[in-house]
Amino acid sequence: MAQTTVEPGATKPRPALGVVGLVGAGAAIAALVAAALTVLVNGPGVPVPGLDGPGELATVALPAVRALAEVAMVLTIGALLLAAFLVPPQRSGYLDVAGYRALRAGWMVAALWAAAAAMMVPLSVADALGRPLGDVLDAGLLAQVVPRLSTATAWTLTALVALVIVAACRTILTWGWTVVGFGVSLLGLLPVALTGHSATGGAHDLATDSLVLHVLAASLWVGGLVAVVALAAHRSADRIGALATAVPRYSRLALVCWLVLAVSGAVNALVRVGPAQVLTTAYGALVVGKTLALLGLGVLGLLHRRRTVERAARGEPSALVRLGAVEILLMLATIGLAVALGRSAPPATASAPPSRTEVLIGYDLTAPPTFLRLALDWRIDLIFGTAAVVLAVVYLAGVRRLRRRGDAWPMGRTIGWLSGCVALLVATSSGIGRYGSAMFSVHMAEHMILSMLVPILLVLGAPVTLALRALPPAGRTNPPGPREWLLAAVHSPPARVLTNPLVALPLFVGSYYALYFSDLFAAALPQHWAHLVMNLHFVLTGLLFFWPLIGVDPAPRRYPPAARLGILFASVPFHAFFGVALMSSSTVIGGEFYRALALPWVPDPLRDQQLGGGLAWASGELPLLLVVIVLLVQWSRQDERSARRDDRRAEADGGAELAAYNAMLQRLAAKPTPDAAGQVSVGSREEGRSVDEDRPSRDGTSPRSP
Ligand code: HEM
Repeated sequence: MAQTTVEPGATKPRPALGVVGLVGAGAAIAALVAAALTVLVNGPGVPVPGLDGPGELATVALPAVRALAEVAMVLTIGALLLAAFLVPPQRSGYLDVAGYRALRAGWMVAALWAAAAAMMVPLSVADALGRPLGDVLDAGLLAQVVPRLSTATAWTLTALVALVIVAACRTILTWGWTVVGFGVSLLGLLPVALTGHSATGGAHDLATDSLVLHVLAASLWVGGLVAVVALAAHRSADRIGALATAVPRYSRLALVCWLVLAVSGAVNALVRVGPAQVLTTAYGALVVGKTLALLGLGVLGLLHRRRTVERAARGEPSALVRLGAVEILLMLATIGLAVALGRSAPPATASAPPSRTEVLIGYDLTAPPTFLRLALDWRIDLIFGTAAVVLAVVYLAGVRRLRRRGDAWPMGRTIGWLSGCVALLVATSSGIGRYGSAMFSVHMAEHMILSMLVPILLVLGAPVTLALRALPPAGRTNPPGPREWLLAAVHSPPARVLTNPLVALPLFVGSYYALYFSDLFAAALPQHWAHLVMNLHFVLTGLLFFWPLIGVDPAPRRYPPAARLGILFASVPFHAFFGVALMSSSTVIGGEFYRALALPWVPDPLRDQQLGGGLAWASGELPLLLVVIVLLVQWSRQDERSARRDDRRAEADGGAELAAYNAMLQRLAAKPTPDAAGQVSVGSREEGRSVDEDRPSRDGTSPRSP
């Protein structure tokens, strides 16, 4: 793999001008489509008595600027995706030319993203307050209103993330930090996905989850294609080598993104518009438009696979650039269409207005939880439920690859991993997940499964070891791939710090106290996205805590069994005390939310909380017991292994080590020891006897008794 050095201060890498023009035209089309369709579908806006309305400027500018912000967002994410995972870095860990160039182009689009997102703040305020834009361009008013308006807050956060990415793209030179930058840029798409239509009203949990997956897939797909086409269109010498890696990798990603877009788009659409209304409403028509766009883009993708991908990977990118240009224009126009869809009021799907429970948690609960309802009343969590299924399928594919190669893989590990996936699915998507959003006691059961049971079972599955054995190593000639990325992640400084018990233990148990005994939990309760973040936190802190303790995989540090047992026992009192504190508390945590829900079978939220405390106390101890058993088994196995190793070594070197040890003992025994007067006297035969003579032989019998 040819290495080209990037000299800091070298001539500025210039993006291919044709692509700049193309993307500029595409962004203009996106803005135009968004504004035109929004006005076409919604008209100048429904007049509200006593409110002037945001006025034409804001009505047209808002969808146009939103489309520009989303186009700049996908381009930024695409540039970082290419630099981090589509083109290889140098062996030194520094970015190579193609990656460096993508990053340098990235800061410019990130700056556009930041500017457009910042403009969306006053536009969202004008829209929400129904006031002309000029009226809200007042710092005092914005300072007051923005923190109270979720869309304005979301855009402020997006602008801040985009600014961080601008700085990152201007300064980063290494692969490791590029990956971090890519991760941060993905955070930037969340505010858009977590506010707007999807976050309120009936089924907002399904709408929010599907939109997060939808916007993520759209960003990687559209942004990735623009970055690959920009690389292919660049006239520099390094592009051929980089294309050989980037094009096949992007092609695989594109297929997954297409599928995720289709499914998540359909789910999101069906939450908003009934099948009968698809052809009879304006909202439905926009959905049909998007579906046609996706099908058209699918056909172009197929053509790429048939005609351009191989040629581009072989160093003939012109066909890919031509077809890619058409595809990019269609994709950006579809983003415009998507913004108009997001700005259009969905038709009323239900005859009756949503119930109070439905408004607060996104769906209705009509009866108290029984064992049967908790077991059978499922509501799939599109994020964690999907993750559980994908994790199980990918793991089984890895085991199958090993088996096909004739390599064994312990069944116990597979059972551990699959049970962990099932526990994740059950905790988030069965009746536990359904009632967990509305009842503290059920939420605590969900919390305990996610932070204790799921991580314990998953780390026993040894996923890293399986991946390292199933994934092909890049070797010296190929660019680093998933296997090398995984190794880099496991041995990265953040992994070392986060798995250090001095960090993992407070994160694991301390966060219970921080979440429930502060206002955090009460603030999180009404927000579906906050439930997603909480669940993710529970699983991750559990993994970071249990991995170094009982994980089979190589961890950044390995502690002796006794130390691991100590760390585990150190967590027990915090756990127990947490449960007791909840049981004995006299204030209802999240009282306002639970009282607003007013579930008929929870007349006294405090009682339900105390039940939750009892569950935390009891259910916390069980998994810990499991960990103690696993640790003791691992400890004894480790002893056996080292005993076997010693035996093998003794057999191999004829017991040289033992002989050396005995010789040392004899030398010690032979050394004259000075008496009280400092006089030295020669020792007796008894004292010189060797260790071996005492240690019972393997068959337990002692060789020589006096
Ligand atoms: C089967 C095809 C598709 C369907 C059914 C679909 C459906 C949807 C729905 C229902 C929304 C939420 C709108 C709202 O908030 O009310 C949405 C948002 C979005 N879609 Fe799609 N979509 C499809 C394909 C695509 C494609 C191909 C792209 C990009 C190339 C795309 C990009 C987006 C984006 C960026 C948003 C967020 C818009 C915003 O809230 O500003 N979608 N889509």
